[in-house]
Amino acid sequence: MKQIDFTTSFTVFESTAELPQEVGLLMEKAVHARKNAYAPYSKFRVGAALLLDNGQVVIGSNQENAAYPSGLCAERVAVFQSGAVYPDAKILQMAISAASDTNTTTAPIPPCGACRQSIAEYEFRQESPIEIYFMGETGAVYKSDSLKNLLPFMFDKNFL
Ligand code: THU
Repeated sequence: MKQIDFTTSFTVFESTAELPQEVGLLMEKAVHARKNAYAPYSKFRVGAALLLDNGQVVIGSNQENAAYPSGLCAERVAVFQSGAVYPDAKILQMAISAASDTNTTTAPIPPCGACRQSIAEYEFRQESPIEIYFMGETGAVYKSDSLKNLLPFMFDKNFL
């Protein structure tokens, strides 16, 4: 018997003021996207902004549904939109911001498990890492150099 350990790491920025300027601008786009979330049920709004290698920015926000599981998270709205509109472009960076209508979120809010799996598909497809920056409404921003930090031991097409 043996044990396998995975180590992941994140860079912590104390606030958006510490971000490189272009990342700060991308996070502003995620915040703007968040304001267009359709979240009447959870009152929890998430915005995502992707910077592509063709210079385009693609945004997404969570879109809920009265049949709850039919809704979709901001991150998947964004990556699916990117794949649909710019199938040959690589995603360089993703910025995520989440805020509740009922309390102020100060902790960095990471993508959910299903979104991690979806983002992983795009990282695999493009064969290059996606930088992921995530935050709440205020406070620290965490950066992952690759989706891999968020999803160790991931399932991918090589297992098929
Ligand atoms: N949500 C996202 O948009 N992204 C995540 O990674 C976590 C959760 C949305 C889904 C739902 O509309 C609301 O936040 C509450 O779960």
